[in-house]
Order: sequence, then structure tokens, then C-alpha cells
Amino acid sequence: MKILVVGAGGREHALAWKFAQSERVSVVYVAPGNGGTAMAPKLENVDIDPMDFDALCTFAKAREIELTVVGPEGPLVAGIQAAFARCGLACLAPSADAAQLEGSKTFSKEFLARHNIPTARFSSFTDPRAAKTFAQELGLPVVIKADGLAAGKGVVVAQSLEAAEAAIDDMLLGNAFGRAGARVVVEAFLVGEEASFIVLADGTDFHAFATSQDHKAIFNGDQGPNTGGMGAYSPAPVVTEAVSKHICEHIIAPTLQGLLSEGIHYTGFLYAGLMIDALGAPSVIEFNCRFGDPETQPIMMRLESDLAEVCLAAVEHRLAEETLVFSSKAALAVVLASAGYPGDYDVGAPISGLNEVQDAVVFHAGTRLLDGILATSGGRVLTVAATGDSVLQAQRLVYQAVKAIQFKGQYHRDDIGYRAIEREAR
Ligand code: AMP
Ligand code: GLY
Repeated sequence: MKILVVGAGGREHALAWKFAQSERVSVVYVAPGNGGTAMAPKLENVDIDPMDFDALCTFAKAREIELTVVGPEGPLVAGIQAAFARCGLACLAPSADAAQLEGSKTFSKEFLARHNIPTARFSSFTDPRAAKTFAQELGLPVVIKADGLAAGKGVVVAQSLEAAEAAIDDMLLGNAFGRAGARVVVEAFLVGEEASFIVLADGTDFHAFATSQDHKAIFNGDQGPNTGGMGAYSPAPVVTEAVSKHICEHIIAPTLQGLLSEGIHYTGFLYAGLMIDALGAPSVIEFNCRFGDPETQPIMMRLESDLAEVCLAAVEHRLAEETLVFSSKAALAVVLASAGYPGDYDVGAPISGLNEVQDAVVFHAGTRLLDGILATSGGRVLTVAATGDSVLQAQRLVYQAVKAIQFKGQYHRDDIGYRAIEREAR
């Protein structure tokens, strides 16, 4: 079987790495891929933009690709699923309608409210005065979100009314997020511990992946501005078996049922970003219509099932025949970023030391291979991942491996997994 993975990040490298382990898979093309997918066995980069659906479909037809899997949200929200369907090609992706769960925070919040799925109290605004009045009514801290896609950066948790008002003005009047910020959601602050709960759905049935948790903030101790994610681990101990069952019954199943009742068959990965309160009750913070990055990396390290078989079963709407089996080990992944990210950063720094890495897997994101030289090309450059008998052991292996890797301006957090490690020590 030939597979096409659409995207260029650490998530796509991890998915392609897992697909390549299947005996049924002969080659995994990655469009456009990165320096890591350019070098890995069974993987081949194809220089096509993820938003160029015509070129992707032409390539998939010409190479007789049996399954295309889409990593990033951009092509999903823009309707890649329909483009492939029109060509009679199998593509594991929710439709553009379904992808509105991620593409519009107003859509997803109103959907949650309509179907009585727990989420923070909210309202959606285009008028700054009304937004500010509602923010005041909710009390502090209060959360202000740009409605559209903003690469994880369109959310402000305001600790003062002045900060809330500034965020509202920035988004609605200052055009800080372009069209994505032309509408804002103002919502109540949820207290608890976050977890990522990702499932694979085939329109009616779903299977849950192992639980995970990411660290979004740039600095140690979860301080500083949000990024796409600076590290992640699996499992997330806050999601006990009882909590997991509760999430499936009270959040995932009603979401898929609710979509069905509105005429939407959700096929693909569905990611629920959750807040779990002190009593173990989950609320939805957000939905993503794709796998998480960097959550994919530790989850793929633990997945024992054949990902190609399972994804094919999902597009063919026979997921009930398959299972998802995970190693009982823990996995942890740390992102190595370019200094300055999530703001401005330099690219083009040569990367060395990857051959010295032991007991860990290095997934590439912002890297490029040019004339045999590997160099940085993005904000998040590499994800180093390892498994261990505990989160602590996996963390030790990862940070040992990180020491071997060098590039100018390399920055990473030193504390990925600290909450899980605190729980392990209890
Ligand atoms: P989102 O893009 O909606 O996932 O928000 C990004 C991050 O902001 C989340 O991962 C949370 O850490 C934080 N956040 C968003 N909404 C809330 C909320 N209602 N209560 C507490 N934290 C939130
Ligand atoms: N790590 C968070 C995300 O992929 O949205």
C-alpha cells in the first residue's frame, strides 16, 4: 500500500514514521515534508503545497495512492476531503463542514451548547462594547478568543479587565488576527488540569487514542506566551480510566451524534482539548479536527496497532472491526525550537549531533535538507521522543538525547512532564 501524508511538521513525521512500520506499506509520500522525512527509510518527500488540492489529487492518482492522511487544519477547513472525494480517492479527513468545529470557535461553542456538552459559559461578538460588557459580567480571569484559525495563538487569558479590553480591541479593531479575529468569543475561565483526548472516527464508530497532555507555553513552569506546543507526554495521568469512560460517553459520543443529527458524518481524527476539574469532570476547551502537534509524537511512540490498517478501516467506515492497542509504557517528547519562537526567529542554522542520539527518536518539523546539509527552517525545529517505564524515565532519556543535538539558538523547555512526574511521586 502507498500512503500520502499531507503536511510538513513533527506530527506528519511521526504519522509517516508509524505508517512506514506497517508491513503492508511500501512507501509513504509526505507533501511537502521536511528534512527528517527526506532522510527516513520508506519515506519520500513530494514538493506540493498542502493547500494545492489539484496537484495533490493529480499526484495521488498518478502514483495510485490508496490512502491520504491530512495533518494540518488549513487544508481540512478549506475542504480537502471534498476535493479527494470528487476524484474518487480515499482521504482520511473530516469535511469542511465538520472541520468548522476547529475553524470557527463560535460554531464549536454554539454546537456544544446546542447539544448540552459541557464547556465554559460564553458569548460571541463583533461589537467591542458588547464584548467588554460581557467580559465584565463573567469576572476575572476571563478568556478572549479570535473566532478563526490563529495557529494556537489567538487566545488571551486576561487577568485584568484592562487586559481583556485590550485583547478585544486588538482582535476586533486592531485586526491582530486578520479575518480570524473579526469575531471574538468571550468565555469564562475554567479551573483544573488540561488533557488532550484524540479519537479516530469513521462517521458512526470511534476509537480513542492513548491520552496525552501538551505544554503550550514557551517557558518553564507553563509561563509566557502560548506556542503550538513545546512538549507532550502520554498517558495523561489526570485522565484515569473512569474519567476516560466519562469523556467517551459524555463528550465524544454526543459530539459525533450531534454532528450526525445535523447531517455531518465525522470521519478522521477529532481532538478534544479538555479541562478536567478537581472532581474529574471534563469540559471542552476547544476541538481540533486533526491530530495534535506535539501530542502525535508520544502517542505514535506508544501505538502498537498497524496505523495504516486502522486508518484505512476508518475511511471505509468499518472501524468497528479494528482496535487501537497501546504499549503500557509512558512516552514523552520535547520540542527543540529556534530562539525567539513564537515571535521572530532566525532560520538556516546547521544542525549537528543527530547521529549521536541514543534511546530516543527524533522527529523533524522546521528542518530542511539542502545539498546534504540539514539546517533549521522553522520555529519548532525538532521533537525528541522516548518511551520509559514511567514519565520520569522517559523524560530522563529524552533530555539525555537532547544534549547530543546542536544548532545555533537552540531553545527547549527543561520541565516537560512535570505535572505527571509530580503525580507519579505521590
Ligand atoms: P484554545 O486555542 O482554545 O485551546 O486555547 C489555548 C489555551 O488557552 C488552552 O490550551 C488553555 O490553556 C487556555 N484556555 C482556553 N480557554 C480556556 C478557558 N475557558 N479556561 C481556562 N483556560 C483556557
Ligand atoms: N498541541 C496542540 C495542538 O496541536 O493544537
